[in-house]
Amino acid sequence: MDLSYQTGFGNEFATEALPGALPVGQNSPQRAAYGLYTEQISGTAFTAPRSHNRRTWTYRIHPAAKHQEFRQIDNGNIVSDFTQVAATPNQLRWNPLPAPSIKTDFISGWSTMAGTGSPDAQSGCAIHLYVANADMDHRYFYSADGELLIVPQQGSLLIKTELGNLYIAPQEIALIPRGIRFQVLLPDGMARGYICENYGAPLRLPDLGVIGSNGLANPRDFQIPVARYEDKQGDFELIAKFSGNLWQARIGHSPCDVVAWHGNYAPCKYDLRRFNTIGSISYDHPDPSIFLVLQSQSDTPGVDTIDFVIFPPRWLAAEHTFRPPWFHRNIAAEFMGLIHGAYDAKAEGFLPGGASLHNCMTGHGPDVQTFDKASSIDTSNPQKIANTMAFMFETRTLLRPTRYAMESPARQTNYTDCWQGLVKHFNPEQP
Ligand SMILES: [Fe+2]
Repeated sequence: MDLSYQTGFGNEFATEALPGALPVGQNSPQRAAYGLYTEQISGTAFTAPRSHNRRTWTYRIHPAAKHQEFRQIDNGNIVSDFTQVAATPNQLRWNPLPAPSIKTDFISGWSTMAGTGSPDAQSGCAIHLYVANADMDHRYFYSADGELLIVPQQGSLLIKTELGNLYIAPQEIALIPRGIRFQVLLPDGMARGYICENYGAPLRLPDLGVIGSNGLANPRDFQIPVARYEDKQGDFELIAKFSGNLWQARIGHSPCDVVAWHGNYAPCKYDLRRFNTIGSISYDHPDPSIFLVLQSQSDTPGVDTIDFVIFPPRWLAAEHTFRPPWFHRNIAAEFMGLIHGAYDAKAEGFLPGGASLHNCMTGHGPDVQTFDKASSIDTSNPQKIANTMAFMFETRTLLRPTRYAMESPARQTNYTDCWQGLVKHFNPEQP
């Protein structure tokens, strides 16, 4: 299995599995080398500014057009209509979903928890959890609806894409661009994690402003696969997620048959442990935007459709400061997950593989135990938050939970209890 990588984010890459498969000096020669077909995949408008334009030229055994007719199939727990139930201002939290009791591959294991916007409008996102216990056998998939940000929590994933292979384990992420075809195998037999399906502009690295030219997620730590092709005939299924529904077509060959490609529209992986965490070394701590890994920009400058934020291991060094995340409300909607360890704003109840949702202007913050501990800890000494990796999918618009999420036995219906013990300390006689 070829697991060679190129590095960089958004760069122009050129890779060929056979020498001379890439044409020189032009994209579409009259006849491509080795009898290959030439095909361009554009992930942005043709006329997008050069700094935002994403497209890749592929040289492949069959063009993507060659398959039988698509027929709609059952969507399982995948939802794109986010008006099923009334959105609630309550704080929401879920336990990890249990392992499936029947054979379930990566695609059939999705359960949509929340979402905003619509794939047709190419705005917003869907947030899915996945649990799977089987390889995708003779099945390939693509989402025309959105880019997939995959965050494994348990079990590694071998993602065979038409542009090459990615292997990711928990504490790593993968980005699969909209439309890119792939298949997922489970080297560990069982896999669980989170997916943000981004209907909007492709995720990108944020600008750094006064931070300077280095920091947060560095471009060189993103790994992009090299070209690798399957020359395989057989009776396969191609599953498309299109306008919120699943469609299935028979295909007589592996769609992962790209022998060479060049361009900047490509899957990639990133190890979250390489994130360069920046924080306060005096007092207070900055807004959580300081933990931003990737952003999907909206049409309004400075306002992102989606922010992918992580809370990695770090030193807390701010003095005379309440060090955990403070109590807060904000305009954004915050869907959180925990990959590993414990999260520093919650003493218990937020489990690896679990999730929480705090929507627009819903109050939240540390639970009683965390508040009491952080209010009395000696802040003259730095403190290491060592055993943790939490993350947040944050959106500018309301995240509407699905019926599945609200009715799931995994939902902790007593979640709001964690703040009920915050008693009145106020004493007007004691400043
Ligand atoms: Fe928050």
